[in-house]
Amino acid sequence: MVSQARVPVAPLDPAGVAAALRPFGESRMLPPAAYVDPAVFSWEQQHFFGGGWTCVGFAADLANPGDQRAVPVGAGSVLLTRDDAGVLHAFANFCRHRGHELLPCGGTAQRQAIVCPYHSWTYGLDGELRTAKGFKGSQGFEETAWGLVELPITDWHGLIFVDGSGTAGPISLALHDLEELVTPYEPERLVIRGRHSYDAASNWKVLTENYHECYHCPMIHPELCRVSPPKSGENYKPSGPWVGGWMDLRDGMQTMSLDGVSHGLPLPGLDEQGLRTVIYVNVFPNVLLSLHPDYVMTHVLTPLAADRTLIECVWAFAPEVQQKADFDPGYAVEFWDITNRQDWGACESVQRGLSSQHAIAGPLSPDEDAVYQFVTQVARGYAGDPVWHADAKAAIAS
Ligand code: FES
Ligand SMILES: [Fe+2]
Repeated sequence: MVSQARVPVAPLDPAGVAAALRPFGESRMLPPAAYVDPAVFSWEQQHFFGGGWTCVGFAADLANPGDQRAVPVGAGSVLLTRDDAGVLHAFANFCRHRGHELLPCGGTAQRQAIVCPYHSWTYGLDGELRTAKGFKGSQGFEETAWGLVELPITDWHGLIFVDGSGTAGPISLALHDLEELVTPYEPERLVIRGRHSYDAASNWKVLTENYHECYHCPMIHPELCRVSPPKSGENYKPSGPWVGGWMDLRDGMQTMSLDGVSHGLPLPGLDEQGLRTVIYVNVFPNVLLSLHPDYVMTHVLTPLAADRTLIECVWAFAPEVQQKADFDPGYAVEFWDITNRQDWGACESVQRGLSSQHAIAGPLSPDEDAVYQFVTQVARGYAGDPVWHADAKAAIAS
């Protein structure tokens, strides 16, 4: 049984958090401070991004033994490696000597050992200390006692997740009901053929809330509305730390592209329903997974400040498309690049609005039930229930 340790409550007005947790139809959005206050941002870095599973990128970017990459996780950073046996590892990114970072955050290396740039302590790709210059024969110095601090890591359908708390429990257990939705798309088998990085002047939650509703689509997404009816589809009722729903393609439209035409190949695991719909899923706290008939688009959000988020967006296709000499992923990439920029523009405006000293939490429309699910997940976290731990326990009980 996974223990359900509580965490300190977030530095927010408890009445505002309680208002967000009222039943759907009566609730309010999170208090504006949740989006603008650096103290709340620090709490989230520690307890959301560093306190459970967080996505740190794509397995394809760490494909070979010796690949190393330092990535932000919560308030600090983590060094990812792939060892000689092909096994992924995650280590707290500090040297056991005097704490120097093993790689600067954002940096990469391809090397058969981890070498600290300060005094050259050298570790294996599995984190064991191999050599500490000058310590050989020192009394009482045992190399085996000075290995790197290792954290749980999982390759979930080609996405790498790290558990900064070390105690969140197996990700597959917490996401067990999402598995059956994602598995037919085989995201781990697909090849990345398009990438964009965006730097949005918006809180990460504003971006996620925007992802969870199409109430705004008729106003800002004319291209999207031409291929997918904004009021179509339904949202799921997850039992774990994810939120999502599906939408239809209009008759005659094959996929989400400017003219509704696919220039790729249908994903072979999909049934009739899968070929007529698009599934939109958010895995807490920072993955937006958009499952199309012929490609998977993934956004990974890295919060940089209360009002700034780095968004890495990739488009992945069936490997068989590479046999088409003229394959061009632009039909998918351009459509979503236009739509992404429309979304980020709206979110940046929301961020500016919420930073007014007169901002007050608003209500949710009946079409915003997935936003409600996400907001209540966040609010329960603010109130002291660790999002991943709580759900792992629920999954075990079910
Ligand atoms: S801090 Fe790494 S070798 Fe000294
Ligand atoms: Fe949108």
